Amino acid sequence: MIWSVLLWCLLTPAAGYQTRERLPFFHGHVFENSPTASKVNGLSVPVRRINAQKWCPVSGMHFKLYGNGSEDFRAFAHHKRGNMLLKTCRVLDREARSEYLLSVGLCCQTCASESVVFEVASVKVDVLDTNDHEPTFRSAGTVHITLDDTTALRSVVYRLEAVDADSGNNAELTYISVPKNGSFYVIPKTGEVLLVDSILGLPSEVKFHVFARDHGWPPRTSKGVVVTIAPQRWATRPAELAGSGRGGRSPRALLDPGAKVSLNVSEDASVGSVITSLGPSRFQSAAYELVYPESESSPVTVGRDSGDITISRRLDRETEPFLELTVKIQDKRGV
Ligand SMILES: *[C@@H]1O[C@H](CO)[C@@H](O)[C@H](O)[C@H]1NC(C)=O
Ligand SMILES: *[C@@H]1O[C@H](CO)[C@@H](O)[C@H](O)[C@H]1NC(C)=O
Ligand SMILES: *[C@@H]1O[C@H](CO)[C@@H](O)[C@H](O)[C@H]1NC(C)=O
Repeated sequence: MIWSVLLWCLLTPAAGYQTRERLPFFHGHVFENSPTASKVNGLSVPVRRINAQKWCPVSGMHFKLYGNGSEDFRAFAHHKRGNMLLKTCRVLDREARSEYLLSVGLCCQTCASESVVFEVASVKVDVLDTNDHEPTFRSAGTVHITLDDTTALRSVVYRLEAVDADSGNNAELTYISVPKNGSFYVIPKTGEVLLVDSILGLPSEVKFHVFARDHGWPPRTSKGVVVTIAPQRWATRPAELAGSGRGGRSPRALLDPGAKVSLNVSEDASVGSVITSLGPSRFQSAAYELVYPESESSPVTVGRDSGDITISRRLDRETEPFLELTVKIQDKRGV
């Protein structure tokens, strides 16, 4: 009886203060979805390092884990090698929990709840990602866009965004469109849908699928989003163009005098690109003339017969954030 009281007095301060101050720290990792009883890698703790022999004979050593999530692992002594190992007690899911910070307790002979336990080390276990999630789009499975057919080339007309619950490469995405349509380009890195070629006079809607694929191995691909883009004739919206709701226009009038068409153009649009056309098919018989600014100072030209507005020198948003053009449209039939 006297001995056991004495032992208690000697051991408690040593375990409680001295060791806690500079508890050895170990770091290991295990891949998620590994089967139960997988070894935690990079973590093989020599019994010498944790001073375990100080408390117990090597053969009587048992380890017990403490801390939030400690039930997911089991620590045991590899007597032959003089190491302590950790193994998983279940299949782990990184998306549910990616790291554990645990304390290792040492008990002699048995780790029954009443026995004296010394805290001998702390360990951190990282749960590493495997590519177990496919990318998913935030938007619904179908996207329908109505696009003004005078929309400037290089405009971003839509942005598709997918997410992937994995991490690192397993969550890095590339967007792919199928089939390719020359009028639209989906930027692989961003999912932005760009208008790259005129849709003026297109007879039907443009339809394509967009998928997101991650960079894991093997890669995973999302379900497709069906994108439908319907070109809309700007000339069918007189109120917006003319700024008036006048309904009774002469069927032969090309545009109301003073009608305004405005559009945005990217400053890196290249010289020679047609940014819009004033001559959709119903105005076949018109002639177009740039009245202002003078053609020498204008960064765009207007095709006399086509009505195409073409970039003739580089645009610079800093010096010329907007440009106002006046175009005379003459009906060749004499109106
Ligand atoms: C344990 O850790 C998890 C994940 O870090 C946390 O969500 C949970 O609240 C913690 N539980 C306790 C009892 O601290
Ligand atoms: C894009 O799709 C439309 C509609 O299906 C089609 O008329 C057009 O020719 C296509 N353009 C290219 C360049 O594939
Ligand atoms: C041009 O861009 C500005 C600023 O982003 C926007 O407010 C405006 O509506 C755009 N105009 C057209 C015709 O797209």
